[in-house]
Amino acid sequence: MNPSVQLLNLIILSFLISSCTTSKKDDQPQNLSEAYNDYFKIGVAIGPRTLETDQAELILEQFVSLTAENVMKIGPIHPKRDSFNWGPADQIAEFARSNDMVMRGHTLCWHNQVPDWLFILGEQEVIRDTLLNRLKFHVTEVVSRYKDIVYAWDVVNEAISDKDGEQYRNNKWFEIVGEDYIAKAFQYAHETDPDAMLFYNDYGVVNPVKREKIYLMIKNLLGQGVPIHGIGIQAHWSIEKPTEEELVKTIELFASLGLKIHITELDISIYPSREDQEISQAEFLETAEQKQVEQYQMIFNVFRKYKDHIENVTFWGISDRRSWLDNYPVAGRKNYPLLFDKDLQPKKAYDVVIKF
Ligand code: G3I
Repeated sequence: MNPSVQLLNLIILSFLISSCTTSKKDDQPQNLSEAYNDYFKIGVAIGPRTLETDQAELILEQFVSLTAENVMKIGPIHPKRDSFNWGPADQIAEFARSNDMVMRGHTLCWHNQVPDWLFILGEQEVIRDTLLNRLKFHVTEVVSRYKDIVYAWDVVNEAISDKDGEQYRNNKWFEIVGEDYIAKAFQYAHETDPDAMLFYNDYGVVNPVKREKIYLMIKNLLGQGVPIHGIGIQAHWSIEKPTEEELVKTIELFASLGLKIHITELDISIYPSREDQEISQAEFLETAEQKQVEQYQMIFNVFRKYKDHIENVTFWGISDRRSWLDNYPVAGRKNYPLLFDKDLQPKKAYDVVIKF
């Protein structure tokens, strides 16, 4: 064959191969983060031990943002007044650094998982100034250590009350300091890392009554000039709730304050209520899986529609192998709330989330 015709054939062939590969890749994203590259970061909450198992590979393949499920909370990371337990949190941070991931910091000020020393001095309860000094010390130490890798902090977690007619949860922070512990926590975090995005994080945000309470609190904080940049919607949802209407209302309400929205702790329980009997995996596949698929499809449709406001969507766990929902609200009742099964294989819900 004439050498120039041969060369032309080669050029045409390599063009065909490369366009085929590109279109195949464009049609079928290889993982969640690739699928949502133009939308929001996809994250996962983990413990350091998972990084030493087969789950590490799945984390690397699917996610770009990590949250420590427990080890950055005050009790685990600051067990004694003068000493920190950095090891477990460092392990996650190091994994994120080495793999070009980011982290959401969870959480600087919460009433749960607190160490024994925090509210006590000698035999007495601490006074307001002492507690604020302790909060400042804690926030400054933790935020400065992870400044390079944590881009967003859940500064205050679950400060709003679930009780009718009560605005703030009556926890030790509120009891000793008063409601301004919330503003102070944001100020301390902002002073330590002015570049970090600072979030108020809560559950039940789609509930109209609680949503209104949270909205009022954040509006008030913004009015006082408190550095709060976003709302963390935890999203511990079920196959029945929320409805699309409530979800949309919630997103639009917080977006109207100019806040960024992070979906911080997403999982879809297969049990609509705490009274439901436990079902086996086989029963799940038969009876509840389709509902879960539809719920995941609906919420991701909404998330995509509001991509200009939503910046991160984080799952609260890697796979159905283990979830906090295996022990809540009913101890020992197995749940199947995530996108991967216990063998780390993608479920049907994964397919509808990734293909749109
Ligand atoms: O670390 C101890 C371990 O030493 C001990 O052997 C073991 C025995 O039970 O307990 C371990 O602590 C457990 C810890 O998780 C770590 O696994 C606690 O008992 C257990 O209560 C704790 O649960 C965590 C829960 O927060 C605490 O309230 C869940 O894993 C975690 O998923 C959950 O996460 C919260 C978010 O931070 C805030 N939003 C709600 C969400 C779900 O509750």
